[in-house]
Amino acid sequence: MASFQLSDGTSIPWVAWGNGTGQAKKDAIESGKLALESGLRHIDTAQLYDNEKETGIAIEKDSVSRGEVYVTSKISGLQSQEENPVPLDEIRRSVQGSLDRLGFVPDLYLIHNPFVAPPGQLKAFWKVLEELKDEGKLKSIGVSNFRPQDLKAVLHGAKHKPVVNQLEYHPYTLAHLEPVLETHAKHNILTTSYGPLTPLLRHPTGGPLKPILHRIASRLTKKYGEDIDAAAVLLLWLKARQVAAITASGNPDRIKNLAKIFKSNWELDPEEVEEITTVGKTIHFRFYTVHMEKDFPLPSLPRE
Ligand SMILES: NC(=O)c1ccc[n+]([C@@H]2O[C@H](COP(=O)([O-])OP(=O)(O)OC[C@H]3O[C@@H](n4cnc5c(N)ncnc54)[C@H](OP(=O)(O)O)[C@@H]3O)[C@@H](O)[C@H]2O)c1
Repeated sequence: MASFQLSDGTSIPWVAWGNGTGQAKKDAIESGKLALESGLRHIDTAQLYDNEKETGIAIEKDSVSRGEVYVTSKISGLQSQEENPVPLDEIRRSVQGSLDRLGFVPDLYLIHNPFVAPPGQLKAFWKVLEELKDEGKLKSIGVSNFRPQDLKAVLHGAKHKPVVNQLEYHPYTLAHLEPVLETHAKHNILTTSYGPLTPLLRHPTGGPLKPILHRIASRLTKKYGEDIDAAAVLLLWLKARQVAAITASGNPDRIKNLAKIFKSNWELDPEEVEEITTVGKTIHFRFYTVHMEKDFPLPSLPRE
């Protein structure tokens, strides 16, 4: 099964089923169990989703062993993420809360966004996660929604670099993310993509990519003899760009379909990857704006 290497020597499956949004969040046990039964091997949760416990139960209830499932969780801050950062002397207790609810140490633990750290204390915050890793209380550590200035703060003299930065990443965020992605390349930080279906599901019209994604979906459907939709094309585009996909569904058919995509050998042509990338860069549209659009200038591109 396809996975990507992380800079700390571990690897991460290329598709995650997240339980932070929609029906997946509400049905974290039943949907999580179905995701695992169907063959998915990565669950993405967080303190904020209030279902770390259910994540642990979903894994426990399934016949796969814990060792076969990759789990990501996040320290999210108290209640509202922006207004209630976690004080430095509360981090250990907060992390232990995640571990207790899950019932195990997750494979990957992230800072949910830079505002989880008290103002000006991001570096000190990261150091505590580094210590927890050194003590064997955490495994891989990474970040989420980190802008160039946040990455710079934690990378400076870091003992352990973040192995991933989980971002809203899809073709319509590419232009804005350029400086972030340059830092990722320089420091071997894997990009993981949440909200990957935004161009199809949340952009008001689908924008210029919509007909292109549908055209490619038709070609793949004919080539592989399977029903491959435009959403799958976006996920396969991520895979081609070595980006791990964090998607979600509470719909049983879609969960099974996602597992099928995860296990498939379906591939876009290099020209198709290039076309999606080039057209994506002509507009800027992001759904989750609260963190990444703060003090990080937007490209002067249209939304549509
Ligand atoms: N780090 C962060 O700050 C952050 C922020 C947001 C999300 N996340 C993580 O990323 C996960 C995914 O986020 P997201 O929901 O924004 O991802 P997404 O993949 O863009 O959207 C998933 C949504 O699309 C629907 N869907 C799935 N497959 C579909 C298909 N083939 N056609 C049409 N609709 C489809 C699902 O609804 P149905 O249930 O109806 O299938 C689900 O509500 C979250 O659950 C969470 O784990 C992290």
